[in-house]
Amino acid sequence: MAANPLRMALIGGGGAGFIGKVHAIAATMDGQATLVAGAFSSNPERSRDAASAFGVAPERAYGSAGELFSRESTLPPDERAEFVAIATPNDTHASLAVAALKAGFHVVCDKPMAINLSQAAEMVKCAEASGRVFALMHNYSGYPLVRQARTMIQGGELGKLLGVRVQYLQGWMHGRQPGDTPARGAWKSDPSRNGPGGSLGDVGTHAYHLLRFITDAKPLELLCQLQSHAPFHELDDYGHALLRLEGGASGMVTFSQVTHGRLNDLSIDVDGDRASLRWRQERPNQLEVRALGQPTRIYERDPNSPLLSDLARSSCRLPAGHPEAFLEAFANVYRSAFADMAQHRASYIAPTIAPTMPSVVLPYPSVRDGYEGVAFITRCLESHNDNATWKPTTDFDGSRL
Ligand SMILES: NC(=O)c1ccc[n+]([C@@H]2O[C@H](COP(=O)([O-])OP(=O)(O)OC[C@H]3O[C@@H](n4cnc5c(N)ncnc54)[C@H](O)[C@@H]3O)[C@@H](O)[C@H]2O)c1
Repeated sequence: MAANPLRMALIGGGGAGFIGKVHAIAATMDGQATLVAGAFSSNPERSRDAASAFGVAPERAYGSAGELFSRESTLPPDERAEFVAIATPNDTHASLAVAALKAGFHVVCDKPMAINLSQAAEMVKCAEASGRVFALMHNYSGYPLVRQARTMIQGGELGKLLGVRVQYLQGWMHGRQPGDTPARGAWKSDPSRNGPGGSLGDVGTHAYHLLRFITDAKPLELLCQLQSHAPFHELDDYGHALLRLEGGASGMVTFSQVTHGRLNDLSIDVDGDRASLRWRQERPNQLEVRALGQPTRIYERDPNSPLLSDLARSSCRLPAGHPEAFLEAFANVYRSAFADMAQHRASYIAPTIAPTMPSVVLPYPSVRDGYEGVAFITRCLESHNDNATWKPTTDFDGSRL
């Protein structure tokens, strides 16, 4: 544990809630942060009951997020939570993030950032005016070999970009039965809580961000077709978005929650005019690179490999061969954001910066990336509803904000 770890508050994660628990584990994995407070459920009693499971003192398990913000704000600066992780249903992200930023907390928010573009625009404006850190949890950008892929492409090892294919395939919707109330995530079938994009918002935004993160290629136009196959669910559960990328490359983003037998099968293929690469999240410790006439190169996650970039090496915790995966990648996004939070603390609160900050840090997914993800959902729906016609994407950078 660092001498003076960053103090975290968690919103969500109580009861059967999934990703809040992952936030709590990942943020504290390296001893750079400690969970001190929470509003773990929308139900005040369940929120307080969850305190012990998270190791939070009962007096700092609050009945609501509003209570958390107001009560934590009254504590001395060296006691109060410094950042808030938002791991609640999509419709709550905007109001919680804006309230947290206005109360002076840094924010780590899960995806999709908001359920419409006006919410996302408000979040950008508020985050940028606040001067606080805002990180969006696109955790797949934290994998060492995803970071290696990005470095290789930026260094020109694949040559000119020809095209990118990324897909995120799940199949769990086939298990749903009439009248089922899932133990968690029932809100995902309610457009007013989930937002208008089903698989598009849930896994398509992760796939789209991975394409952008690895290639850095800006989209110029997109065309999208959505389908809804599963009974008892009115939102899309299958879709493809075709992208025209700057520089003449093309991209394809496929998302599905009705592909039998697929679990969290996120994969990306990048084609350059000198080489191609492939990475798959269900085999995350390997990156394949191919060139015509040469044997396939397989890069392994290895903190000591001279074949990997500084960035990829510094994103590893264990020696090669001991598998690292989802939790560690998640923690790497936190670690990048913590470096900024620690800088902030040094200039405002003194006295310490946690001593174990990595020497190589990468910009973490930002509030602008969150805006772009919501713009991707919005424009895909517009294209689909307009008979799958091309729509411009040049405003994805927030230039119209
Ligand atoms: N980054 C990822 O890989 C990833 C994975 C899964 C989900 N997510 C995102 O995380 C968010 C949560 O998804 P989930 O799968 O954990 O959902 P979930 O239904 O499993 O959990 C939601 C949790 O939020 C709590 N909650 C709801 N409203 C609240 C409120 N107002 N205040 C406090 N707590 C509240 C619930 O009690 C529950 O514990 C969603 O935005 C989802 O898209 C991201």
